[in-house]
Amino acid sequence: MSAFQMPVCMPASTVRAIAEVRSLNTAVDVQPAAFVLTFGCQQNEADSEHLRGMAAEMGYRIANYAEEAELILVNTCAIREHAEKKALSIIGQYKHLKAARPSLIIGICGCMVAQQHRVEELKNRYPYVDFTLDAASIHRLPEMVLERRRGGRRACTYVELPRDHVPDVVEGMPLRRETRWRAWLSIMYGCNNFCSYCIVPYVRGRERSRAPADIEAEARALIADGCRDITLLGQNVNSWGRMADGSFPEGDFASLIGRLAELDGDFRLRFMTSHPKDASDALIETMASHEKIARHFHLPLQSGSDTVLARMNRRYTAERYLGIVDRLRAVMPDITLTTDIIVGFPGESEADFEATLEILRRVRFDMIYSFIYSPRKGTPAAEYTDQIPEEVKHERFDRLIALQNEISYERNKLEEGKVLRVLCDGEKTQEGKTFCSGRTDGGKLIYFAGAARPGDVAQVKVERAEPFVLRGVQM
Ligand code: SAH
Ligand code: SF4
Ligand code: F3S
Repeated sequence: MSAFQMPVCMPASTVRAIAEVRSLNTAVDVQPAAFVLTFGCQQNEADSEHLRGMAAEMGYRIANYAEEAELILVNTCAIREHAEKKALSIIGQYKHLKAARPSLIIGICGCMVAQQHRVEELKNRYPYVDFTLDAASIHRLPEMVLERRRGGRRACTYVELPRDHVPDVVEGMPLRRETRWRAWLSIMYGCNNFCSYCIVPYVRGRERSRAPADIEAEARALIADGCRDITLLGQNVNSWGRMADGSFPEGDFASLIGRLAELDGDFRLRFMTSHPKDASDALIETMASHEKIARHFHLPLQSGSDTVLARMNRRYTAERYLGIVDRLRAVMPDITLTTDIIVGFPGESEADFEATLEILRRVRFDMIYSFIYSPRKGTPAAEYTDQIPEEVKHERFDRLIALQNEISYERNKLEEGKVLRVLCDGEKTQEGKTFCSGRTDGGKLIYFAGAARPGDVAQVKVERAEPFVLRGVQM
C-alpha cells in the first residue's frame, strides 16, 4: 500500500487563486492580516509553515493575535480528546470576532476535520466557520479563501476516500519558517501502521514519501541559509521510500539520512519518529558513523507488556525493544533516549502496568512523553469492552511520572562537568537574571551564562543539573 510516487506541483488553479487573492489584498489601504494557530505534533507545525507561507503569498501580513486578523486558520489535532476539545473551545471564542467583523474568514484545517462527525459538528454548530481543510489538502487553501472572498458558499464538507487511497505529494507549496537556524523537513506523510488506539492513519491517510532529490534540495537550501538543526519528519521515518511490494528502490531511511549527513556545513540532523518494529541496525550504524546526526533517538515504547503491545497492534515485544536500546547504547553510550508511553490502554492490568515501570527502571530514558489513553472514534481500541476507569488511569499516570522524574534527574546529573555543543535559541529570565537558552545535541534544555545569540552554536560547560533543565556556562 505504501507508495513512492511522482510528486505533483501546486495545481494551476491554486497558483491562480494566490494571485487573485493577492490582487484583492493589495487593492486595499491597510494590508489585511492572517493568524495561524497550531495544535498537535511537529507534522502539524510543518503544515502550518505552509499555511503561513500561502497566506503571505496571498498578500496577508502574518499576525500574532487572532483579534488583528482578517483570516484565521486553526490547524487542529485529533490524537486525544483533550486536543479536540481545546481547539473547539478556541474556535467557539472566535464567534464574537466574526460578529464584530463579518468579513473575517475562519478556516479549520488539519487532522480533526478529516473526521466526518467533526466536520458535521462544525458545519451545524459553528455557522461562522467558513471552511474545513484536512491535512492532505492544505494546498487548496488559496482556492478556499478566494471562494469566500468572492462571496461564495461555506465549504465544511467531508469526502470519504477509499482506505487505500494515496494522496498526492505536493511540492513547491510556499513555506514560511519561524526561525532560520532550526527547521522541520517533512520526508513522508501519512501512516500505514494502524496501531489500534491511533487516529493518525485515518486522518492523514496512506504513507507516501517525498522524492530524495526534493528532500536533498531542501536540506541544501536550508544549510546554505544558515540552518543549524534539521529534523526529518514522518510518522514512521523507517518507512520512507518503501514501495507497495515492500522494496526500497531509491534506498531506505538509513541511506537517506547518511547521505544528508555528508553535506557540508555546521549542522545537526534529527528525525521523528522511528517505529521500533522497523528501527534497523543500518540506521544505528549510520548514526554512529556520522557526527552530524544528533545523538538522540526517540523510540516510542507505548507499553512494557507484550499482551498490551499485541492488542495495540505494535508488532514488537518488550524484548525486541530492549535489544534495540542495547544496540544503540553499545555504539553510542552517550545517546539521549526518549519515548512515548500510553497508560490505561483497555485491559491494562496492574501487572501490565508494572511491566512498563520495569522497562523504565531498566532503560532509564532521559525523558518520556506520557499520555492517558483516550478512545478515538473509529479506531478498534475504542470498541474494546475492557476500558479502564478514569481514576485508575490517573493513578497509574501519576506513578509513572513520579518514577520518571527521578530517572530524568539522575540522567541529567550524568551531564554535569561535560562540555556540550549547544544551539542557542533564545533567552530565559529567572529571578532578575537573564541566561541564554538552548538545546544540547541530545536535545536537552540548557540555560547558560554567555554571549550566544539565537542561532549560534556554543560550547557550554554543564555546571548543574536540575530535573528538567541543565545549567551551565559558555566556554
Ligand atoms: N507515529 C508516532 C507517534 C504519533 S502520535 C509513533 O508511532 O510513535 C504520538 C503519541 O501519541 C503516540 O506515540 C502515542 O503515545 C500517543 N497516542 C496516540 N494515540 C493515542 C490515544 N488514543 N490516546 C493516548 N495517547 C495516544
Ligand atoms: Fe499512530 Fe502507530 Fe502510525 Fe504512530 S505508527 S502514527 S502510533 S498508527
Ligand atoms: Fe495530532 Fe494529526 Fe499530529 S492527530 S499528533 S496533528 S498527525
